[in-house]
Amino acid sequence: MASSPKDTSRSAGVSRRTLIASGGALSAAALIGPRPALAAKPRPEREPVQAGDRMMLRDGPNKGKLLTPDMLETGANCIEAFPFDPASDTERSRNRLNRVLALRLDPADMDEETRRYSADGVLIYSAICTHQGCTIETWDAETQHLKCFCHLSEFAALNQGAVRSGPARRQLPMVPVTLDADGYVVAAGGFTAKPGGAKT
Ligand code: FES
Repeated sequence: MASSPKDTSRSAGVSRRTLIASGGALSAAALIGPRPALAAKPRPEREPVQAGDRMMLRDGPNKGKLLTPDMLETGANCIEAFPFDPASDTERSRNRLNRVLALRLDPADMDEETRRYSADGVLIYSAICTHQGCTIETWDAETQHLKCFCHLSEFAALNQGAVRSGPARRQLPMVPVTLDADGYVVAAGGFTAKPGGAKT
């Protein structure tokens, strides 16, 4: 049925009101702009190790100090550490997967890739076993293996943490390191592979 002029006018009036109302809303939205996303609070203590991090020792006579090569005796031991973010002055220890082992070996004995990830003989390995995520704490100076006593996996420190025995299937991730201008060992990047056990 055709609309009467009255109907058309009312219809047009409604349309105008609607448009004015929606236009007003649009203008208000345009003035307000998009809602700002809630900024996530930075949590450097939980972030994974990253380039520029130093290494805070958690054990031994230099416990609580930032690692320099002279703090490690070549081939003698491994010392637990966590990455330390100098920008925020924060140890990244609220993330268990950041737990690492610092050791020093003769670069001449390392394979080429391992040597590339080292600095003045210092190597940094994940301390989390790639089998089921136990914490690795043992260094075998004779074989130069890192050992996990949960199920006896062994990882070759001179060969990029390759599995030498036990049920682990993945090599132990490394943190490539270099020395900064002050002589501290610093990460040149993140882990070479995802740290953690198969179900971590
Ligand atoms: S968790 Fe390390 S060998 Fe099983």
